[in-house]
Amino acid sequence: MNPIKRLLKVKYPIIQAPMAGAQNSTLAIQVSKFGALGSLPCATLDIEEMRREIKKIKLATDHSFNLNFFCHENPNNTKNENQWRQIIEKYYQEFNVEFKISSSISRLPFNENIIPVLNEFKPIVVSFHFGLPSKEIVKELKRMNIRIMSSATTVEEALYLEENGVDIIIAQGIEAGGHRGMFLSNDISTQMGLFSLLPQIVKKVKVPVVAAGGIVDAQTVTAAFQLGASGVQCGTVFLTCQESTVKYKKLLTDVSLPTAVTNIFTGRPARSIVNRAMKEIGTISEYAPPFPKSTNYFTPLRNHLERELNFDFSQLWSGQNRTNCKLDSTSHEILQDLIQGIP
Ligand SMILES: Cc1cc2nc3c(=O)[nH]c(=O)nc-3n(C[C@H](O)[C@H](O)[C@H](O)COP(=O)(O)O)c2cc1C
Repeated sequence: MNPIKRLLKVKYPIIQAPMAGAQNSTLAIQVSKFGALGSLPCATLDIEEMRREIKKIKLATDHSFNLNFFCHENPNNTKNENQWRQIIEKYYQEFNVEFKISSSISRLPFNENIIPVLNEFKPIVVSFHFGLPSKEIVKELKRMNIRIMSSATTVEEALYLEENGVDIIIAQGIEAGGHRGMFLSNDISTQMGLFSLLPQIVKKVKVPVVAAGGIVDAQTVTAAFQLGASGVQCGTVFLTCQESTVKYKKLLTDVSLPTAVTNIFTGRPARSIVNRAMKEIGTISEYAPPFPKSTNYFTPLRNHLERELNFDFSQLWSGQNRTNCKLDSTSHEILQDLIQGIP
């Protein structure tokens, strides 16, 4: 039996990628109901919001679902942010928006306070981005019989995850939308396309490997399985469906718009559609405050401009392959297509 189906108790070895800021339980419910694995991104939720969203999933379906968390370290305050202020402030002046930057932390890493929530709702699996939580927490999850998945962007990261108790590795190719899951290095030149990364990881580890990055239809699903994947994780293709909450759906359907990996919106490298901010500031800036502090620098300006559907300073997370992003598609239609590619 396919190891993903066995470990995650799903009908199809297809995972809907957790996408913080782009979806909530609505998408996860529909995907899980279909028989694939729906995911709830928890990085931007506080404990009460998390409980509310998981309750909705539990009420709607008794199928498997995934809870996803970030594992970054909270930044210290030693970095001098004056240069960054100067770079960003002029845009606030241009649009006559007050330059008032919140110091609150918008994304919390997985921590012990979340363990009781897991105990209460008992998800079959949790997935992590940016590595793993502490060894003690990993041990506790194992004791609770919760499966663990995490993203690897290099062979080295895959070996680290396997050694540290991960049950399923998500090989994230450079095509992928959103944040790079990279955690052993911050050197972007280490990042590979899925065709190069996936077979290398499959050769080196014993645990099942899920392919992520550019998988959007039956053909790309088949290709991933051909290269040794036991399952696939798809994000971008779901961004334009009815259940997605993103505001830039129209831009996503324009496949001529290029994407690039940038750290300017959050402080960590992530793939976004190229917009004015990336063109003028540059995609990678040494002055961007560490993750997730950079996020706050754009928030008031972004909120102001998005009211007029101006996305020049928004994080427009998108993968490189948007060929199947259709306005008003449903997750059901997307999944019907994806499952045709499973061998
Ligand atoms: C809008 C968006 C938000 C994302 N947010 C998360 C997240 O919160 N947690 C996570 O583990 N991965 C996140 N990712 C990355 C996905 O897990 C996955 O690697 C990626 O979507 C796969 O490539 P694709 O977008 O080409 O399908 C996000 C991706 C996108 C497009």
